[in-house]
Amino acid sequence: MSEYRRVREELLVNPHTWLITGVAGFIGSNLLEELLKLDQTVIGMDNFATGHRHNLEKVRALVSEAQWQRFTFHELDIRNIEQCRKAVAGADYVLHQAALGSVPRSINDPLTTNDTNSTGFLNMLVAARDAGVKRFVYAASSSTYGDHPGLPKQEALIGKPLSPYAVTKYVNELYADVFARTYGMETIGLRYFNVFGPRQDPKGAYAAVIPRWIEELYRGTTCRINGDGETSRDFCFVDNTVQMNLLAASAADPQAVNQVYNVAFGARTTLNELFTEIRDRLAQRHPHIAAVQPEYGEFRAGDVRHSLADISKATTLLGYAPTHDLQQGLDVTTQWFLEEFEAVS
Ligand SMILES: NC(=O)c1ccc[n+]([C@@H]2O[C@H](COP(=O)([O-])OP(=O)(O)OC[C@H]3O[C@@H](n4cnc5c(N)ncnc54)[C@H](O)[C@@H]3O)[C@@H](O)[C@H]2O)c1
Repeated sequence: MSEYRRVREELLVNPHTWLITGVAGFIGSNLLEELLKLDQTVIGMDNFATGHRHNLEKVRALVSEAQWQRFTFHELDIRNIEQCRKAVAGADYVLHQAALGSVPRSINDPLTTNDTNSTGFLNMLVAARDAGVKRFVYAASSSTYGDHPGLPKQEALIGKPLSPYAVTKYVNELYADVFARTYGMETIGLRYFNVFGPRQDPKGAYAAVIPRWIEELYRGTTCRINGDGETSRDFCFVDNTVQMNLLAASAADPQAVNQVYNVAFGARTTLNELFTEIRDRLAQRHPHIAAVQPEYGEFRAGDVRHSLADISKATTLLGYAPTHDLQQGLDVTTQWFLEEFEAVS
């Protein structure tokens, strides 16, 4: 039996109370869906800075009424410590996802990114410490590898951050480590590589590439590739990310705790390849899309050229076994977006 299956069976028998910050966002709402399906009690916190009420409504439609009744939502802001204390009361585990994502956003507005990602993180850590939670699992980022040239990325070898966003995510790891050593807290940082899947926001200046291209191809607007398209990423389907959160929260081995882990699939795909993968899937339903070509623009400041994770630390210490590669994840994701677009048109 896989470790993930064992953990889920154990949770069904022995349910807990979880706080998900950023619950109305992409990854947060996917965590919510899985935990409610496992009959857990969930507290959710979000200020809707980038998340949406409709993500919560979508989850509601996917779970039973009894499961939905185990969810309590608070519209609260992690930049306020008292609001963090209110949200964390009664939680066994914290899955801290709330942050302002996007490298370009942080370059345009480093203060707001820092308030949310650094101060907000510290607030949550203090509130979780004072509430005596069992474990604090948090969204770190592959951007922490910065300018380190090594591939694949191994957790212990990082370079200099290339953006204010990367600084904040590295600061999270430093604080978590210090809180573990100073106050005996249990923390685990999850360095997400490019996560994608249902409910990721396709709109706005800071949208991630996969939902953005799916929407642009569907609507017939131009898809832009920053640079020559040979930039590569380790794209990670959201179910793999959910798995890592549950494994991290449940890990019993003391060696596995107070660590950071790469969360990825462990394969590299260029933007040119990604574009073709998405276009070909959409073209199966809408044949005219098959001929669409992307437009090439400037390279983007703060972007690393190549990214690929070594996932052996997570497989060894947490029993991580990703269930979806890029192709399987794109099958689910493109289908989901097409159904969404078709439902409203
Ligand atoms: N998606 C990725 O590829 C990726 C990669 C690396 C790291 N991460 C990290 O994963 C986490 C979740 O990212 P996501 O992709 O789901 O983004 P998202 O924008 O969909 O979700 C973030 C959520 O946090 C909420 N939030 C923001 N500021 C808040 C505040 N002050 N108080 C309360 N809630 C607040 C937003 O409203 C949103 O619902 C973030 O910490 C992000 O930095 C994501």
